Amino acid sequence: MSQLLSVRGGRRLEGEVTIQGAKNSVLPILAATLLARGQVALLGCPRLRGVDASIRILRHLGCDAHWEADALAVDTTALRRCEISDVLMREMRSSAIFLGAILARCGQADLSYPGGCELGPRPIDLHLAGLRDLGAEIREEGGFLHCRADRLRGREVVLRMPSVGATENLMLAACGAEGVTVISNAAREPEVVDLQNFLNACGARVSGAGSSAVSIEGGQDLHGCTYRVMPDRIAAATYLCAAASAGGDIYLRGAEEGHLSTVTAALREAGCTVTADSGGIRARLRAVGPVQTAPYPGFPTDAQAVLMAALLRSRGATVFEENIFENRYRHVDELIRMGASIRVSGRVAVVTGVERLHSAPVRCTDLRGGAALCVAALAAEGETRVSQICHIDRGYEDLARDLRALGADAVRVEETENG
Ligand code: UD1
Repeated sequence: MSQLLSVRGGRRLEGEVTIQGAKNSVLPILAATLLARGQVALLGCPRLRGVDASIRILRHLGCDAHWEADALAVDTTALRRCEISDVLMREMRSSAIFLGAILARCGQADLSYPGGCELGPRPIDLHLAGLRDLGAEIREEGGFLHCRADRLRGREVVLRMPSVGATENLMLAACGAEGVTVISNAAREPEVVDLQNFLNACGARVSGAGSSAVSIEGGQDLHGCTYRVMPDRIAAATYLCAAASAGGDIYLRGAEEGHLSTVTAALREAGCTVTADSGGIRARLRAVGPVQTAPYPGFPTDAQAVLMAALLRSRGATVFEENIFENRYRHVDELIRMGASIRVSGRVAVVTGVERLHSAPVRCTDLRGGAALCVAALAAEGETRVSQICHIDRGYEDLARDLRALGADAVRVEETENG
C-alpha cells in the first residue's frame, strides 16, 4: 500500500533540524569513487533512493559498498565490469554521471541511454560532445551508448551551456586523461565544488570549480579518503520556505548560508528575518520582485516550487520565470486546488497572494513540486493529504520527520481506498 503525507496547517514552526547531506553532491561523488583505489568513507551520506541505486550500480560493477553507521564505505578496487544494464540505469535519473568515471577507469563503458524525467527531456548531448572532445569514440545504438577510449587526452572543452551534469561527467573523465583539461563555461554550482574537493582528497589535481573554468591535471593515481558530503542547500531552502509559509522561528543546523543567498534574499525581500544560519520568520509576507531561475549563482530551479508555495498568501503578485527546465510548473494545478491564485503562460507563472489557503487532496508531480505542496499545506486550513510521495522520498530522507522536528503536524499515513 502506498503512503500519503498528512499535513495539518496553521501551526507556527519552531525548532531545529540538521540538514542532510546533498543529494546532488553525493551522486557524482559515488560515481567518482570508481576512480580511486582503496577505501572511501563518505560521511553525512543521505539515505535516499538514488544513493541505494548507486550502491546497486557499484556492486554490479564488482565494487564493495556498505553502510557503517552513518558513513557509506565504498571500495572500488575490485571493479570487474564496465557495463550497466538498462534496469539499473533507469533506477536513477542522473546515472549518466557513471559514463565519465567508468571510461576513465576502464577505457570503455557500455550503458543504456538514461531516460527523460518529469521535468521534460533531459538530453546528454553536452556530456557526449565533451567526452568525444577528450578522445572517446561513442556509438549510440538501440538505446545503448558504447564508448571506447584507449587514451583520453586533456584539452579545452567548451560547454554550450553550463550544465551541472556535463561539467561533473567531464571532470571525472578528465581525471583519467593525459595532460590538462580545461572545462570552459562550466557550471558553478556548489556541488561541482564538492566534487572537486572530494577528488582532490583522493589525490586528484582539480582547480577552478565554482568559477566557469575548471582545470583538471589528469593521470594521477587516486586513493581512498574520508570525506564529508556538503549539506543539501535545496532541503535547507525547503525548510526556510516552510517557515516562511507557516510563520515561525527555525534553526537549520549545518546549513550553509553562502549557498542559499538568492533564496534568503527573496525571503528577506518578502519580509522574513533570516540571520546567518537561522531563520526567524514573520507570518504574512510581501510579494517579491521577479524570480528568475538561472545557473548558480542565480536562483536555483530546484527552489522555485518551494518559494512559490511560501508566497501563496503574500501581499501582491510575484512573477516567476523558469529558465532551466521546460516542464517545471506541474505543481501549479495542485496548488490551485488549495485555493492559490496562479496563472502560467509558457515559462512565466504569476502568483497573486490570497488571504487563505484550504486543504485539498493533492498529488506530487515531481520531487520539488511535491515538497512545495507540503510547504503550502503548512499554511492551509485543515488537513491536506499529499499523495504520490515517492517523488518527495527521492530527495528528502524524511520530510515529515523534519517538519515535525520544527513543530509542524505532519505524518505519513497509509493510503486507504477513499484517500
Ligand atoms: C542538476 C541537478 C538538478 C537541477 C539541475 C539544474 C543533479 C543530480 N541534478 O541536473 O537537481 O535541477 O542541475 O540546476 O545534480 N542540457 C542540455 N544538454 C545536456 C545537458 C543539459 O541541453 O547534455 C540542458 C538541460 O535540458 C537543462 C539545462 O541544460 O535545460 C541544465 O541542465 P543540467 O545543468 O545538466 O542539469 P542536471 O545536471 O541534469
